[in-house]
Amino acid sequence: MKMKVAVWTGAVLCTILLAFNTFIYMTLNHRLISLEENSLANQVEAVAQYQASHLDDERNGSKAWTPATGFWLSEAVRQDQRLVLLTPQGKIIAQAGNSGIPISQIISNFEPSPSLRPTAHTQTWHLGHKVYMSALVAVPNESQSRLLGYGLLVSDAAGVRTYMNTLLIILVMGSIGAVLLATVAGYLVSALAVRPINQMIALVSRIEASNLDERVEVPRGNDEVARLAATFNRMLVRIGRSFEQQARFVADASHEIRTPLTTILGYAGLLKRWGKDDPKVLAKAIDVISKESQRLHELAEDLLTLAGLEATVKQSGHWVHPDRVIQDVIEEMQTLHPELHFVTRLDNQHAIQVPPIHFKQVMHNLINNAVKYTSAGGQVRIKTVDGPNWVEIAVADTGKGIPKSDLPLIFERFYRVDKSRGRKEGGTGLGLAIVKELVELHQGTLEVQSVLGQGTTFTLHFPLSEGRDKEARPMA
Ligand SMILES: Nc1ncnc2c1ncn2[C@@H]1O[C@H](COP(=O)(O)OP(=O)(O)O)[C@@H](O)[C@H]1O
Ligand SMILES: [Mg+2]
Repeated sequence: MKMKVAVWTGAVLCTILLAFNTFIYMTLNHRLISLEENSLANQVEAVAQYQASHLDDERNGSKAWTPATGFWLSEAVRQDQRLVLLTPQGKIIAQAGNSGIPISQIISNFEPSPSLRPTAHTQTWHLGHKVYMSALVAVPNESQSRLLGYGLLVSDAAGVRTYMNTLLIILVMGSIGAVLLATVAGYLVSALAVRPINQMIALVSRIEASNLDERVEVPRGNDEVARLAATFNRMLVRIGRSFEQQARFVADASHEIRTPLTTILGYAGLLKRWGKDDPKVLAKAIDVISKESQRLHELAEDLLTLAGLEATVKQSGHWVHPDRVIQDVIEEMQTLHPELHFVTRLDNQHAIQVPPIHFKQVMHNLINNAVKYTSAGGQVRIKTVDGPNWVEIAVADTGKGIPKSDLPLIFERFYRVDKSRGRKEGGTGLGLAIVKELVELHQGTLEVQSVLGQGTTFTLHFPLSEGRDKEARPMA
């Protein structure tokens, strides 16, 4: 990661610098050459003008033109230049300046032009490994009617070369330095950036059930790494909480299983010792053992339901008509409890999207509680009604009610208001926990109202979805 960032930074900068430096180098090179050419042209044009105005052959009567004094010519050139005056045929008639500069090749290459224009023609020459620049100008007579000859100025371009070479070295060295610096900086910056991530990796590989309360250090600021660290810590909190819940659940479940088991074991012992001789002990033991086994069986069923719920993915396409299921459940209950009075007002028209087996379990648990916690002669009322986009189902009883302080707790697993009584009556304490999970699984809501000594009402709401009309009455 760090290496990658560093290499990428270096590579990108390298490309940018290469393009930029090439551009600078080319532009500057071109500009310097054209400046030099211009100055050569100006120089030679001045010489040509001087010649034309001062040494006209018509004035001194000779056929050939004679150049100005050697002194003047040598004044007109620099150390690194060579100036020659030529006849129209290219013969040298005068020269000045650095004689080391070769001109024969330049002269043999130029084509005498008939033009009398006093503008210089410039050119660059590569002779051997050296570079020269030349400026050639025609020298006409004063009346501009006849070509007297040419002025040729040649200069050694070594100055420009040296300058450009130095520039090249500076650019190359500068670029290498910048790329190296950027690479190192990229490495350091990314090392700084990935440090918290490395910390996290170390922590994650260390985490086990025993140290879920460890936390990652959250770096200051609000960048991605800080957010990742904070999210990670929140995840740890959630995992820790659900881990605790899980542990508590296992402890509670074990406790619930142990109690009937202990009873069963105790009575089995009694049975073994005295059962054969004492018919009273025999009857009692069989009775208790079968009751407690029944309890264990119920507990196992409820636990399995809850465990299955956690893995249940919400299935779509399962519809149920609440009224029909409710009638079934009441029928079963009425036969078991003829002493209770069931009152129903079922006005629901639409199906809801809940698997029938889940809905039946919800209604069974609620009605079963109502029956269980209502004494003989009491009433259990069940009501359904359609809202604009929901179905309301209420299960009310005239039983003993639930104390206010217990109301928020009754949906917790294994919670019973009256522990000893609850056990005697055979409840597992899981019924309402199952109801709550099922209702929430299918986007329903669940409320409870209770007045101690007067009765309890559980109210459910399930949403009606778009497909409701297709699934409505005809099903019932
Ligand atoms: N209709 C009701 N009337 C009075 N108390 C109730 C009613 N329904 C539930 N409860 C209380 O809530 C507790 C939890 O209910 P539930 O989860 O079904 O467990 P249980 O197996 O004890 O019925 C019960 O033990 C009981 O104290
Ligand atoms: Mg119950």
